[in-house]
Amino acid sequence: MSKTKVLLLGATGETGASILEGLARDGSFDISIAVRPASADKPAVRALADRGFSILSIDLSKKVNASVLTPFDTVISSIGPESQQSQLNFARAAKAAGVTRFVPCGFITVCPPGGIMALRDAKEEVYNLIFKLHLPYTIIDTGFWHQISFPPLPSGKLDEFHFLGENKLYGDGNAPNLLTDLRDIGPFVARIIRDPRTLNKKVFTWSDELSQNEIYALAEKLSGESIDKKPFALEEIEAVITKAKQAVDADPTNIGLQMGLWSQEYNMSKYYREDNTRKVALYLGYLDAKELYPDFKPITFEEYFKEILEGKGNRPYAGRF
Ligand SMILES: NC(=O)c1ccc[n+]([C@@H]2O[C@H](COP(=O)([O-])OP(=O)(O)OC[C@H]3O[C@@H](n4cnc5c(N)ncnc54)[C@H](OP(=O)(O)O)[C@@H]3O)[C@@H](O)[C@H]2O)c1
Repeated sequence: MSKTKVLLLGATGETGASILEGLARDGSFDISIAVRPASADKPAVRALADRGFSILSIDLSKKVNASVLTPFDTVISSIGPESQQSQLNFARAAKAAGVTRFVPCGFITVCPPGGIMALRDAKEEVYNLIFKLHLPYTIIDTGFWHQISFPPLPSGKLDEFHFLGENKLYGDGNAPNLLTDLRDIGPFVARIIRDPRTLNKKVFTWSDELSQNEIYALAEKLSGESIDKKPFALEEIEAVITKAKQAVDADPTNIGLQMGLWSQEYNMSKYYREDNTRKVALYLGYLDAKELYPDFKPITFEEYFKEILEGKGNRPYAGRF
């Protein structure tokens, strides 16, 4: 049987690398990689070319010729959070080219649109264009990564693995949260994109649904250390978000300020609104990837935590942020 031709945008990023490995290991895809012209000569892109992937340089800041996307059945975007609107020209070209499945850059926590998370709303703008175009799609959300969901230990033992390391306790700490190991995004995506049941649907992936209290208890039990949790009240996070929004409004192109706002809006959505849950995902009409693929055993948060306690693993965004 001929392989499904897939074009992946964002393969040099954290999510994109997981997707690339998942698709490559699956074996049923003929994978090409789209990069922006400014990055075509980067060592990371050259390394992908050396592995035999064909590389297409595409400038998404202007209209993309449909013929560039005509060879592909499926187009996947895992573009960085700051560049969501670059997908608008990508989606228009995909429609004109007759792409049969467009996977826009979702891959975040479950959250309704409309003013809760600016990052979610940036993605929804792309989804709205997809719907307007009647472009066949699959939207995939993943909850929060294991790799950014564990607290620091007093001994400093896990410091080398931390990208977002904090020991705050948001609200009562009991809000459940969907979690996926970053390495499992790829294998999930491979299953999702060859599944006719997921066409024109939203799907969420997860291994666990854990509260902060459950994560702290597990971390203390497995490490034998006692973690000093810092309570953080709703009024405090509301004040932080208001300030972060003002900072972004005053300097809208400053990515650092945007990242500050996004991270606090994630916290508000996850811990106070309790959006990132299986219950809300099903309410919003998502399909549950664990139900769709019972054969696939995702890496649990506990398994991941044991790995880093043993000194195994990689810090996300190493050498970048
Ligand atoms: N669920 C979670 O816990 C979680 C955590 C983090 C991120 N995310 C989500 O995952 C998605 C991907 O984020 P990430 O952190 O994996 O990204 P990342 O590591 O920053 O990688 C971004 C990728 O997009 C490419 N890119 C950026 N701007 C581009 C542009 N204008 N044109 C073409 N390519 C461009 C980059 O290529 P270059 O090499 O050219 O820079 C890189 O390959 C985001 O939507 C983010 O919201 C979710």
